[in-house]
Amino acid sequence: MSRCLRIFRAYSFRFTRRHSTIFLGVFFILSVTIILQLYAYRHHEHPHPPPSVGDFNYSPGAFLRGKQPGNISYCLFNYGLPHGLNWSKISVLPSPETGSRSEYGVIYNAVQSITYMNVSKVDAVTYVTQATPEFLYHVVEIAKFWDGPISVAVFVPDYDLDIAMQILNHLCHCYPMMAKVSVHLFFPKRITKPRLRTLQEIQMSLTTVPTPTFESSNLNASELFKRKLENYRNLTNNTRAEYIQKARKNKIERMMMRIPNTGPLPPHIKFEDCSSSGLENVQTYRKVKLMTYPINVGRNVARNASTTNYFLVSDIEMVPSNGLATKFLKMIRKLMGDEKRDSGCVFVKTVFVVPLFEVVRGEQIPRNKRKLIQMITANRATYFHQHVCPHCQRFPGLQTWLLRPERDVVEPMLIARREYPYHRWEPLYFGTNKEPWYSESLCWEGLQDKMTQMLEMCLQEYRMVVLDGGFLSHAAMPRIKKHRKRDEKQNSAQYWKIIEWLKKKYDDRQECKLMWGSRLKNK
Ligand SMILES: *[C@@H]1O[C@H](CO)[C@@H](O)[C@H](O)[C@H]1NC(C)=O
Ligand SMILES: *[C@@H]1O[C@H](CO)[C@@H](O)[C@H](O)[C@H]1NC(C)=O
Ligand SMILES: *[C@@H]1O[C@H](CO)[C@@H](O)[C@H](O)[C@H]1NC(C)=O
Ligand SMILES: *[C@@H]1O[C@H](CO)[C@@H](O)[C@H](O)[C@H]1NC(C)=O
Ligand SMILES: *[C@@H]1O[C@H](CO)[C@@H](O)[C@H](O)[C@H]1NC(C)=O
Ligand SMILES: *[C@@H]1O[C@H](CO)[C@@H](O)[C@H](O)[C@H]1NC(C)=O
Ligand SMILES: *[C@@H]1O[C@H](CO)[C@@H](O)[C@H](O)[C@H]1NC(C)=O
Repeated sequence: MSRCLRIFRAYSFRFTRRHSTIFLGVFFILSVTIILQLYAYRHHEHPHPPPSVGDFNYSPGAFLRGKQPGNISYCLFNYGLPHGLNWSKISVLPSPETGSRSEYGVIYNAVQSITYMNVSKVDAVTYVTQATPEFLYHVVEIAKFWDGPISVAVFVPDYDLDIAMQILNHLCHCYPMMAKVSVHLFFPKRITKPRLRTLQEIQMSLTTVPTPTFESSNLNASELFKRKLENYRNLTNNTRAEYIQKARKNKIERMMMRIPNTGPLPPHIKFEDCSSSGLENVQTYRKVKLMTYPINVGRNVARNASTTNYFLVSDIEMVPSNGLATKFLKMIRKLMGDEKRDSGCVFVKTVFVVPLFEVVRGEQIPRNKRKLIQMITANRATYFHQHVCPHCQRFPGLQTWLLRPERDVVEPMLIARREYPYHRWEPLYFGTNKEPWYSESLCWEGLQDKMTQMLEMCLQEYRMVVLDGGFLSHAAMPRIKKHRKRDEKQNSAQYWKIIEWLKKKYDDRQECKLMWGSRLKNK
């Protein structure tokens, strides 16, 4: 002890006051830096791994490139759409889950499916999905690969109806398979009704040359800046004054243009041909007004509009593998027998889970399992959201699924429950209208929007039958879901309300881990 002290004293003697001040100062600065670094790390978006670039860039409807829209429309529009909207013919219904207290209005069958108008409810299976107008173009990819009716609910506050109609009308003149699609509209009741552009607005959007922003043009920001700089450098002393005059005039003109109409101008979409072009950057009313997207209202609406017993509630970017719809119907017939099937029976408390995968950038979406497995082996595909949200889509039996050889049928592989350790699983599945509704108070931006529905199914002891022989795939899209802290909090608060309600309605089951879902965080 005394020896230690002696050593200490020997050293402390060298630490004069000046040294210790410096030491303290350095220590202080270091601590502050470390704390700040840690803080920054926690609160920043962690950089996503850079996408590897291939020679193929997915864009929906690319197979229609070079094709021009024809004279005839393959769709059956109602209520005077797409060029008018006759409100006297419309009955606005409430959203399915919330009912009469609903903040949202629904217009069913704005577009009616022609192909499946008279098909019986057991002879087809519906692809049910929802979209905001800028994602609507993805429906052609579904129409291409889904042998059955497609029910889409589109969110159309204010002039977003006009954007949706511009896109739909264009597609309906482009692609005969659009005759499979039925479209339903939903919108918040507290703001102006969905509307189409006035003639004046159309004229204005046609006459104003859109200023090329780096979003709408093909150039990126640095390229655009370089061009401008070069332009400017090329000016001589004489022309410079002229240039500045012109720039000033342009700016004033642009400012004047905004004055007559108070709101933003509904965009006019220019289609070069039948393929899409940068539609995801369209300035929708929803984006301009920073509205959240009530995704579950859309799911419920499209689901309620389905005219078949079985449907698959999917996300519009998920493309089905070859013959998924027909193979599924065949399987149901085999499992149930003709007699029961024809009398409209469904399996009680049973849903059929479809595995989801995503491919890396530069890869085409696989059409069959053999190709998919090749891609997974070569690290060109993974199960959906493996990197963003590993627990969301990892399904029981994943490894077995991957090892099973390809067969030309869809068949049940195993029966799972959505219980620990799969208590945070949010699968897509074939189901019926017997399943609980999706919680309409949760929004897309707040994440984990399917969670409460899954919990309710767990409380009802649902069987989740994992299917082999079919899957859905998602292309790599250069898109990062913007989740906002505020919306996450909002969903979290709603989540607790829903849990309270579930607890009253059902006996708790330990395996469902009700409390776990409150971690509304993807990572
Ligand atoms: C489209 O309609 C115009 C006039 O109605 C006609 O001249 C033209 O041939 C039609 N085009 C096609 C591809 O049917
Ligand atoms: C709207 O529909 C009603 C009822 O069918 C009809 O009387 C009316 O003329 C229509 N209005 C327009 C502008 O088409
Ligand atoms: C489902 O849609 C029909 C109209 O197609 C409507 O009458 C019914 O009320 C809707 N159900 C719910 C729960 O909203
Ligand atoms: C559906 O049935 C109606 C009346 O029964 C008929 O007019 C219509 O042509 C049928 N549509 C299709 C696509 O078969
Ligand atoms: C912008 O485009 C140029 C070529 O078109 C490319 O070399 C550059 O990397 C791009 N910059 C960004 C930030 O994408
Ligand atoms: C600027 O001038 C150079 C040489 O004079 C020419 O090569 C270039 O194309 C000019 N750039 C623009 C944007 O006019
Ligand atoms: C422009 O004017 C500046 C000074 O005002 C002069 O130094 C420069 O040489 C002039 N450049 C040209 C191209 O005339």
